[in-house]
Amino acid sequence: MALSVLSVASECFPLVKTGGLADVVGALPNALAPHDVAVRTLLPAYRQVMGKALDVERLLDLPDLFGADGRLLGARSPDGSDLLLVDAPHLYDRVGGPYLDATGQDWPDNAQRFAALSMVAARLGRGLLQGFRPDIVHAHDWQAGLAPAYLALFGGRRPATVQTVHNLAFQGQFPPRLLGELHLPSSAFVPESLEYYGQIGFLKAGLNYADRITTVSPTYAREIRTPEGGMGLDGLLNARGDRLIGIVNGIDMTIWDPANDPLLASNYTADRLDGRAPNKTALRARFGLDEDASPVFCMITRLSWQKGIDLLLDSAPYLVEAGGQLAILGAGDIQTEGAYARLAERHPGRVGCMFGYSEEIAHLLEAGSDAILIPSRFEPCGLTQLYGLRYGCVPVVSRVGGLADTVVDANDAACNAGVATGIQFFPVTTSALRDAVRRTLALHEDRDAWTRMQQNGMRSDLGWARRAGIYADLYRKLVEKGGMAT
Ligand code: ADP
Ligand code: GLC
Repeated sequence: MALSVLSVASECFPLVKTGGLADVVGALPNALAPHDVAVRTLLPAYRQVMGKALDVERLLDLPDLFGADGRLLGARSPDGSDLLLVDAPHLYDRVGGPYLDATGQDWPDNAQRFAALSMVAARLGRGLLQGFRPDIVHAHDWQAGLAPAYLALFGGRRPATVQTVHNLAFQGQFPPRLLGELHLPSSAFVPESLEYYGQIGFLKAGLNYADRITTVSPTYAREIRTPEGGMGLDGLLNARGDRLIGIVNGIDMTIWDPANDPLLASNYTADRLDGRAPNKTALRARFGLDEDASPVFCMITRLSWQKGIDLLLDSAPYLVEAGGQLAILGAGDIQTEGAYARLAERHPGRVGCMFGYSEEIAHLLEAGSDAILIPSRFEPCGLTQLYGLRYGCVPVVSRVGGLADTVVDANDAACNAGVATGIQFFPVTTSALRDAVRRTLALHEDRDAWTRMQQNGMRSDLGWARRAGIYADLYRKLVEKGGMAT
């Protein structure tokens, strides 16, 4: 029998996206369908979501939802998957991003906004909507973390719950004075429940109360159990270690397909890599880079400390001196944007930057650059290296988290065995990144070895099919064991 899953998240491609979470939440429903798992995705009805959702219909009233009345809407995503939307204009109908206002500040009522999402998820889990009783409520990241907690704390029959950690660095902490307003009992404000260093911890709540915890790569699953990687939650994650599993993300092979991608200047396959050249020409034109024989390195990223963008800033002059070009697509921190803009000014024709968010440029960079740099300090999974592999854009990555799990380093043994797919470096320092750039440039000189590496990446198993099967098994086992199994 088909399993029914309610997936609860704050982002979902192509409706609303700030990063990889959206790609994963957007891809899972169609990936799980062949495994006989029917997913409905519950999202806030942000203004941008309402602009893109199809076949919107009103299903239920949600009176007094954290400050005013709301409604539950049914809808369809442009990719055909099934949506439920929490329509609460007082919480979500705004100009700005899902988490930040137009000036880059957190929305002051994020606690209420995402508690409302989680509360509606919990009520749906208990059968609020006639004809829909999910077997599993699957909460993604802190924004959905209260859903497993509400389900467990309010007693009675409930579905099994899964909490996925896409990034432990974002935990959703709010002052205890909000307990009552968030419908949380004061008895839950203890370290064994959802108290986290004097705050209400939304992610902590999910980690504590979910029947299973997943994260997005096996290496990250190990890293978050250590004091260095646990961001204060390693104790809890160790205590619940038997419930924690790392499953590497897949990519949507239809959206990210160099043979059919409509956003490219030219389509190509692993056998016709010369078809990449028009993309390189197009990206050079967009980024103001000289047209010559130099290899182009790109970076597609949120401009944040996690992503090691400061290390790249320090290494960039070396990269240019050694004969490379650099194209950066970055969104986020204004000061970092300024530093990169100055770097580009100092190296005209060699370094180009674009700031803001552009799906189109992201695709073009993967298709036209020779290598993608990902010097992350930590990386739960990372998707841009997977897109790089798929597009013959060789990933140059720090050996952390999902980057360690998805890129095969071009050391002598791997090259001799013909299995290399990229370059890894460690520790995550400027000098190690420089060495990695040097290695990359040397490898790029050896055309046969380079082509082999591109083709290995392009032919590797990157899609969701097998990985969605692991989620489907996890859901099934959980339901068979009645949710609360050990
Ligand atoms: P994270 O979720 O930590 O930001 P991932 O590598 O998992 O990192 O996912 C990032 C996703 O966001 C990818 O789909 C990537 O192409 C996209 N992305 C990141 N920055 C930009 C940008 N400035 N413009 C367009 N897409 C971007
Ligand atoms: C987070 C992580 C990233 C991961 C993505 C999707 O944003 O930072 O590593 O790929 O979630 O799981």
